[in-house]
Amino acid sequence: MKQWKIKNLLACENAAGRIRVMGWVRTRRDSRGFSFLEINDGSCLANLQVIADDGLDGYEQVKKLTTGSAVAVEGALGQSPGKGQKWELAADRVEILQTAPNDYPLQKKRHSDEFLRTIAHLRPRTNKYGAAFRIRSALAFAVHAFFREKGFVCIHTPILTGSDCEGAGALFSATTLDPTNFSPAGNKDAFAGDFFGQKVNLTVSGQLSAEMFALSLGNVYTFGPAFRAENSNTRRHAAEFWMVEPEMAFCDLAGDMDNAEELIKYLISRAMIECKEDLSLFFKYVDKDLEKRLETILEKDFLRISYEEAVCLLEKSGADFKYDISWGKELQTEHERFLTDTHFKGPVIVYDYPADIKPFYMRVNDDGRTVAAMDVLMPGIGEIIGGSQREERLDILESRMKKTGIDTAPYWWYIDSRRFGSIVHSGYGLGFERLIMLVTGISNIRDVIAFPRTPGNIAF
Ligand code: 4AD
Ligand code: MG
Repeated sequence: MKQWKIKNLLACENAAGRIRVMGWVRTRRDSRGFSFLEINDGSCLANLQVIADDGLDGYEQVKKLTTGSAVAVEGALGQSPGKGQKWELAADRVEILQTAPNDYPLQKKRHSDEFLRTIAHLRPRTNKYGAAFRIRSALAFAVHAFFREKGFVCIHTPILTGSDCEGAGALFSATTLDPTNFSPAGNKDAFAGDFFGQKVNLTVSGQLSAEMFALSLGNVYTFGPAFRAENSNTRRHAAEFWMVEPEMAFCDLAGDMDNAEELIKYLISRAMIECKEDLSLFFKYVDKDLEKRLETILEKDFLRISYEEAVCLLEKSGADFKYDISWGKELQTEHERFLTDTHFKGPVIVYDYPADIKPFYMRVNDDGRTVAAMDVLMPGIGEIIGGSQREERLDILESRMKKTGIDTAPYWWYIDSRRFGSIVHSGYGLGFERLIMLVTGISNIRDVIAFPRTPGNIAF
């Protein structure tokens, strides 16, 4: 007998004959002579209604089924007389795989996101989290589809690295040494006996490796985890997150922005087509403005303004910011949100940032004081993408690294690439969780990551 997923069953045009479904009981309702079970198998948001009548073998046990129990059900699929759903299953066999005890935490009521974070091992069994992670999966696939359609080559860049791409020092180190036995601080040779014979950390970005492949294969991308030991407990930062990082040969900053805008629009529209049912939950229950917001993002060109223009506008805004803003300072989240949510009411790309607040690899502009950087800012989210044209000139790259006091030794290979056929190239990093937040309206990054890692929290 064919084993079906509920998603495929509910999409059937014609009754499929006798079938078998396996899943978890969401609710049970008894009436005279019948028990109605709502079964969910995770394949889609909708449950399958199963009708078990009192003539069934083991009906007494069926009547004891609790929320969270696992069952295998066999029977005939028939037209449902109820509204809302086309099919229901008249069971002729209910096999109880395990009955959940009454302290199953996900009883039929609304639970807060904060509570669900404490049971992250169970929360994907709720409608909201099931939907969020199916959307995340569809979008991960869509990322690959986007780049594949454009002829990009997917590169798996290393997780263990000996350099710090962003130069921000937010590194987790990876070692086989017992930390109770050695003191690496200030002791350069402390790592001599370590696995790699040197200090090694988890990658903060695959960019530098990806650049080497752009300079060989043309257009490439990497899509993998990044690790940052930033001690910032915000709704948008995680210590472990995923990043989509394209790197394009013979491409300048304008081309970089074009690709970024196209990717975001592509991903939103793919979600709206492929995840209709799951997204409807977020439109209805999570953020009433979400659908409109996503449609607006798709309709209009992203506005592009220079950092200097953005700062002027913020200075003149008269808004009461917690952090001062003037030329040379970082744009804080509140400034970014002012631009996207209050002033322009849509996506904004800010480009040409002061060199002093951006990493060494960004290309220095002719004015000598700014770099060809760009950040894509989104309503409700703030920065979702950070990218730049890369410094392809050996002398300028070296002198900027020296000026900023970076130890160039771990980057010898990166610098060396500028000696052989160095060319204009650009790339960016899209924070994948921030994209999921944008698409679902979920406002805390902890709720779009299966098992989130944030400062002081690695319970699962
Ligand atoms: O702006 P960032 O730091 O850029 C880079 O890492 C570049 N090397 C990317 C490149 O050009 N290939 O990070 C890129 C994006 C941010 O815009 C943000 O969306 C996300 O990664 N991000 C984080 N997301 C969650 N938690 C964190 N701690 C994040 N840090 C950055
Ligand atoms: Mg950034």
